[in-house]
Amino acid sequence: GGSATSTASAGGYPDQNITFVVPFSAGGPTDTVTRMIAEPMAAKLGGKIVVQNVEGAGGTVGAGQVARAQPDGYTVLMHHIGMSTAPALYKSLGYKPLESFEMVGLVTEVPMTIVARKDFQPATLQDLVTYVKANANKVTLANAGIGAASHLCGLLFQTAAGVKLQEVPYEGTGPALTDLVGGQVDFMCDQTTNTSGQITAGEVKAYAVTTPERVKSLPDVPTTTEAGLPKLQVSVWHGLYVPVGTPKEVVQKLSEALKVALADQKVIDQMAKLGTAPVPPESATPEAHRAKLQEQLGTWAKVIADAGVKAS
Ligand code: MLT
Repeated sequence: GGSATSTASAGGYPDQNITFVVPFSAGGPTDTVTRMIAEPMAAKLGGKIVVQNVEGAGGTVGAGQVARAQPDGYTVLMHHIGMSTAPALYKSLGYKPLESFEMVGLVTEVPMTIVARKDFQPATLQDLVTYVKANANKVTLANAGIGAASHLCGLLFQTAAGVKLQEVPYEGTGPALTDLVGGQVDFMCDQTTNTSGQITAGEVKAYAVTTPERVKSLPDVPTTTEAGLPKLQVSVWHGLYVPVGTPKEVVQKLSEALKVALADQKVIDQMAKLGTAPVPPESATPEAHRAKLQEQLGTWAKVIADAGVKAS
């Protein structure tokens, strides 16, 4: 009968490669987090996970592609806070976050850093605010497209500083950071999972971290509160999604494998080195993930509207 078949299929799952879609460029923070957990998840699932970067439009192209994929458990999306900001930023989004996907579980919540090319004149966050106000039409602010976490943090910065800057969009903050190190762009707000190495190497200047407490692995970088911009607080939560209609047993198998990956000492150590940590096991569940997304959709719709930004 049907149930026997579906159980059998979930029982046999996976019996082919699983694609994890990253909606930003290779080498960026989303890609880094995905590749960290893919290995232990594949081991637990007893299958192979292939990471595929599907760039464009601040992560909405990749998310839309997964929303339209077969609901068979062989296409999984890694996405972050951008899943909760896109509806307020895009008039015609190819998916509805709460209806087009099944949630698998939360993964990690990553601090952000405000970083600049190393010879950029402002020395502190306050100097940066003063400088960008006086040079608004000259300063360039990099991000990974409208709807990216870097875009949201840049929006919060501009609102806090009371200024509108020229934004330079990239397909991910991997390539954006390369240009920042090369001095092609002035500054950016990006996740510690991408910027930690360059900050520690002195290749970029770090003004602040966007979390209430300092990041242990970046002890010399002040918080935005210490640096005088207490409202500039945001951290980038990540979750795994599959297309709506994916069998429950398959979602459960993926969620179990995610929990195993988040308890893997190598993952814990890698995340700690990059300024973040796995979520607790009770958050790596479909229910916790859905609750987080529901709350975040409301939160950012209000912040974006209050910032005077309209969907386009
Ligand atoms: C972003 O939202 O800024 C992305 O995380 C950038 C990336 O992962 O490349």
